[in-house]
Order: sequence, then structure tokens, then C-alpha cells
Amino acid sequence: MTNDPISNLTVPSLTSFDEAALDKAFAALAAQARDSAAAIDGPEAVEAFRLEWLGRKQGRLTDVSGKWLKAAPAEAKKSLGQRFNALKTVVEGLLEQASGSGPSDAALAAEAIDITLPGTRRLTGSEHPITKTLNEIVSVFAALGYSVGVGPEVETDYYNFESMNFPPGHPARDTQDTLVVANQERRPLRDRLLLRTHTSPVQMRTMELQPPPVRIVIPGKVHRNDAADATHSPIFHQVEGLCVDTNITFSDLKGTLDHAMKALFGSSVKTRFFPSFFPFTEPSADVQISCIFCGGKGCRKCKQSGWIELLGCGMVDPAVFAFAAEKQPTYDPKKISGFAFGMGVERIAMMKYGVSEIGQFYAGDMRFLGQFA
Ligand code: PHE
Repeated sequence: MTNDPISNLTVPSLTSFDEAALDKAFAALAAQARDSAAAIDGPEAVEAFRLEWLGRKQGRLTDVSGKWLKAAPAEAKKSLGQRFNALKTVVEGLLEQASGSGPSDAALAAEAIDITLPGTRRLTGSEHPITKTLNEIVSVFAALGYSVGVGPEVETDYYNFESMNFPPGHPARDTQDTLVVANQERRPLRDRLLLRTHTSPVQMRTMELQPPPVRIVIPGKVHRNDAADATHSPIFHQVEGLCVDTNITFSDLKGTLDHAMKALFGSSVKTRFFPSFFPFTEPSADVQISCIFCGGKGCRKCKQSGWIELLGCGMVDPAVFAFAAEKQPTYDPKKISGFAFGMGVERIAMMKYGVSEIGQFYAGDMRFLGQFA
């Protein structure tokens, strides 16, 4: 459609009069008529449309009969005339519709919608509860000035174990049922690949890259050769934390984790620290929080103890700093100290959302996942 009044009032000359050419020429005109009828927005436009198409002196139909019908060879006149009449009927119909009678019943029926039908709901994605929990943990520490680091899931024996102070053959290696990559016997042990059993190797990777001070959290996926049950999965997620600076003490560790647990589970939550063992921290502790289900009175969830064990932590072992010092001599245990912690994201998500089967997180059941949207 064009708004140019001159071209509106002219029709092109026809050079060919065979059926195909006529079909094309009349179809184009009918389309133009429909377009300009569709744009009619008031009585004045109705009159303009009438003049443009049916005006006796200058209307397009007059133009068509003047230019095309006259120019047509005798044998084409009949079929041209039929098409002309059909076009005229179309234009008159459009004019009738436009001048008050509104759209035809047929047009209305074609557009009718059944408003009682349910709409088409567009599904919007949402964060997976594990991602959501992971981000929440990370942001608690981000607010304390921690940055975020990542490392590879396929790790070397050196980073996963040796540099974390699990010497070759150390019994503590057995506590982390490791999945190793096959056929690597030719390689030295420290270079052999495995699926990382914890996010702790990223502590070492971070320290090798930057001198102290370090404040970093490391979210990520870890793998263990564990049989799946209601609370265990061979693949799960951890958030690791590492803080290294001058004069970092166990009090800093306690204060930081107490704050983090309150931020994650509510300000009435209490924490307590139990002696534990990790090769890469000394002293080491397990952190327990007061049972968020019974408030500490004792219930089935906390096995009547009032406490729930949630994460591991400790002061960075000087032996770990010694490994870091091979690349960054500023990790001198006489000058600096630090703490580290590691928590299981699934476990925290299960507590926060009252999920009793870890497998629900991985089953991909939209009815489960949709509850966290
Ligand atoms: N890496 C330990 C684990 O997976 C957790 C931990 C991290 C403990 C940091 C102490 C310090 O069990």
C-alpha cells in the first residue's frame, strides 16, 4: 500500500494480456484495495477510498477500463471483463464493510477466539535449587570481601592429594573414595588424573597464582566412588573457602563461619566446633549448627542431639603453605596464617528446603524443581 495519491490513482499499463498476466495484474489490484480498506479509520477515509477506487472520472476502476480494456486485443476482452467485474465486486464489498456495517460475519467468525479455553502458558526457566543454594552461599562470602575461584574437575593426584598434604599411601586418601582415570600407570603418580574428590585442590591452585592476602570461595562439582543413597550421591557440590593473611586466627575462622551459618539459616542458629581431622588443616574441626528443625531440643532429624554436622574446617596446615611456597615464596608459615573450610551444597540445600532424598535434585522432575522457581 502506498500513501502517494498520484500512484494511488494510476494503474500501470498492461503489455501482456494472457491469462497469467491478467491474473497477476488483478490480484495485485485486489490486494491494494484490501490494504487501503484495512487502513480506513473514519468517514473521511471511507469517502477517499470510494473516490480512489470507484470515482467516476479518476477512480482506479475507471482507469482500468480505460487503459486495459481498451488496449486489450479482441480475444482477451472477455476474460479481462470478467476479472474487472470480480474486482469491482471486491471493491464494493470493501466499501460497504468500511462504511458502517463493520466486518462481515465471515470475517468475525474467522477471528473468533474462545475465551473460555485455557491460555498457552510460556514456561520460564528458573534456577536449580542446587545452583540457587550455591549462589546464596557464595554471596554470603562475597559480602565479606571474598572473591570467587574455580578449578578443573579432572584433577591431578598432586593437587587433589599430595599438595593437600595427603602423601602417597597415606590412609586419609582412603576416606575419599576416588574415581581415577584408567591407563595412566606410565605417568608419575603426581601427574595421574582423577575426578577431584573435593574442591580443596583449588586452594593450592589459587595460592600458586597469587601471593597473600587471599580471601576466596570456590564453588564446584566433586566426585566420589560412593554408592547413592538418600543422602549420598557420587557427584555432588561443595563450596570451599580459603582465607590467608597475617595474623589470621582460629577466632577469625569461628567468627566467619558463625556469621555465615546465621546468614544462611537464620540469626537464631548457634554453631559449635568439634575436633576433627583433615590432612591439610591443623587444628581441624567439624562445624555443627543447632538443629534448625527443633531449635536444639532434639528431634528425629538431629537424632535427638539438638545439633547437625554441616561442614569441615581448620587452620591451614604449614605443610600446605610449604607446597604453595614452591611457586610463591611469600607463603611463609612464619609470617602468615590462614583458615579453610569446605561445605556440601546438597546437604545445605536439603536442610534449607526440607528435602529428604538427594536424588530429587538430579531426577529432572519438573514438579519437584518447579517448587523452587
Ligand atoms: N575438603 C574437605 C572434604 O571434602 C572439606 C574441608 C575443606 C575441610 C577445607 C577442611 C578445610 O571433606
